[in-house]
Amino acid sequence: MTDKVQQRIEELKELLRKYEYEYYILANPTVSDYEFDMLLKELEKLESEHPEFITSDSPTQRVGKDLTKIFKPVQHQAPMLSLSNTYSEEELYDFDRRVKDGLDESEKIEYVVEMKIDGVSVSLKYTDGILVTAATRGDGVVGEDVTTNVRTIKSVPLKVRKLKGYESFEVRGEIFMELNDFKKINSERAETGEKLFANPRNFTAGTIKLQDPKIVASRPLKIFTYYLLSSNIQSETHFQNLRKLEELGFNVNKDYKLCRNIDEVIRYCRQLETKRHNLPFEIDGAVIKVNSIRQQQVLGNIAKAPRWAVAFKFKAKEATTKLNKIVWQVGRTGTLTPVAELEPVFLAGSTISRATLHNIDEIKRKDIREGDIVAIEKGGDVIPKINYVLLEQRPNDSIETKPPAQCPVCGSDLFKPENEVAIYCENHLCSAQIKGRLFHFASRGAMDISGLGDALIDQFVDLGFIKNYADIYELKNQKEKLILLERFGEKSINNLLKAIEDSKEQPFSKVLFALGIRYVGSGAAKKLADHFHNIDDLINSDESEIEAVHEIGPSISKSIRKFFADKQNLSVIESLKREGLRFSGEAKKIKTSTGIENKTFVLTGTLSLFTREEASDKILSLGGKVSSSVSKKTDFVLAGENAGSKLSKATELGIKIITEQEFLEMIEQWN
Ligand code: IVH
Repeated sequence: MTDKVQQRIEELKELLRKYEYEYYILANPTVSDYEFDMLLKELEKLESEHPEFITSDSPTQRVGKDLTKIFKPVQHQAPMLSLSNTYSEEELYDFDRRVKDGLDESEKIEYVVEMKIDGVSVSLKYTDGILVTAATRGDGVVGEDVTTNVRTIKSVPLKVRKLKGYESFEVRGEIFMELNDFKKINSERAETGEKLFANPRNFTAGTIKLQDPKIVASRPLKIFTYYLLSSNIQSETHFQNLRKLEELGFNVNKDYKLCRNIDEVIRYCRQLETKRHNLPFEIDGAVIKVNSIRQQQVLGNIAKAPRWAVAFKFKAKEATTKLNKIVWQVGRTGTLTPVAELEPVFLAGSTISRATLHNIDEIKRKDIREGDIVAIEKGGDVIPKINYVLLEQRPNDSIETKPPAQCPVCGSDLFKPENEVAIYCENHLCSAQIKGRLFHFASRGAMDISGLGDALIDQFVDLGFIKNYADIYELKNQKEKLILLERFGEKSINNLLKAIEDSKEQPFSKVLFALGIRYVGSGAAKKLADHFHNIDDLINSDESEIEAVHEIGPSISKSIRKFFADKQNLSVIESLKREGLRFSGEAKKIKTSTGIENKTFVLTGTLSLFTREEASDKILSLGGKVSSSVSKKTDFVLAGENAGSKLSKATELGIKIITEQEFLEMIEQWN
């Protein structure tokens, strides 16, 4: 009996490994996510009944349960070297000459050119085909043991495919995060007010050193491998090694090329450079390696870099220009953000005349002053940033940047909370705040009043036509004033007034978001609107009642309380109510005894039969709940195509996973 179980466990592990390989390495799955999950669940069940058969290479063992307190030091078998950089064709010719000088005259030299992935390097050690240690580079001699975290990366095989002679070996490669994933996670962090990461590399480096492997597993890290060292077999060439890595089941970046001479190398480097901006991940150059392993050994290393390889760094997306002025912008919540006004300069496809300086600490750290010549860069994000100051070009009379003591817009004193870097203008009636709030109120995701943009709001506020949200709905009584405005004819006035009237149809959740309560983003507003069916319930609730709403924490609840404690806010809400804006949810007809009542669903992956919103609405209308994250309280995970971490979490917690088809069957009788 147990023999049978063990056999089935082995079978399942093999199958799942194959499917992981097809999905994560070949990007060509042959089974549905659902089938995969079912097999994984079967394996989990068998393993939980027979823990004696659990092995470290089992696909169920990617996410460990324990937190890492310290990352143990790991001595590298051979030092993890870095590369010397070249920036021009001349330097590449010099490199070629040095290589030739180091070898016999008659020797033929070939090079392999690869992309230089902008990530974090790791060393992976396999014994008997099984991953035993993953370590960071550290100082090149001693790194840190990050095995539990690296195991969660699906493109890292826990057990390799069989290849004779390749049982125990070391692989090195680069862990990275794709740009789209980075942007998505960063913007989610922005919405919840969490610290943002500067670029995908920092994010990757931060993630690899997290203590909780579950969080690491939830971040879409990937790996490209570029180095193989076996203790048994020595290939003749690096090119063969890359092929071997592919055969063993590792992810190898496909853009590597064998070049017969340095001219071919240069041509290919240029080709990679033009490809650079259309890649889903960031690269910062090319790596050129002597192909023959024997020649590599003859050439050896100098200090910390090999003589047989070099990096060719692409021109940074960097330019230098003059910083004319630092201005302090006041946002809708009163936060002052320093912005650099620059002498316009062309960089990576567009002209740049402004850059964000984030906050005063950043200015101090980089000692940025008005009149400086600065190096600016376009990173993973669209807004350019200032990298550093060219100090040797600093004018003699330059003065250190100080934060303003008064609000540059309204002149009132500023406030700096003790443990924050931000500075605030606390005057609610500061025209910059008024404009910011109104702009947010009218914006697409909020009241969606088309035509009421920046320029018009500026004018209306400056002329004293509007100062709060309710005034927008009074504009219809001021038509004779509006008509006097330049470039604002009868037709555009009517269009605007119609858009304003139409906005009254926006649902409660959008109205709540439009109010601009600090930390209440569109997602939080929706959750609050679903929970508190009208604004009065929310106004009258205390912090703990607000925090009972799924995923609403203390900073949001405090901020909501503060907002409603302000009499002026309440009076604006009263006026808006009189105007007919929606301050309660539609009384949803909730059916009872549906079998879905009080059940919590999590939606994941791409749904094909309906949109996420439709599925959520359906669940809510049948008395169920929808949550964004999987926990023990989840009853069902509705999984579409390409479902990721939520699915693995659900499997881990033994939560029922249903397909769209099964969901349809569940709700069918209520349609
Ligand atoms: S080879 C001795 N190949 O660049 C060989 N490195 O600046 C050293 N890197 O520490 C590594 N892509 O983290 C190599 N295709 C690639 C690479 C690559 C990125 C990183 C690696 C290394 C750093 C050196």
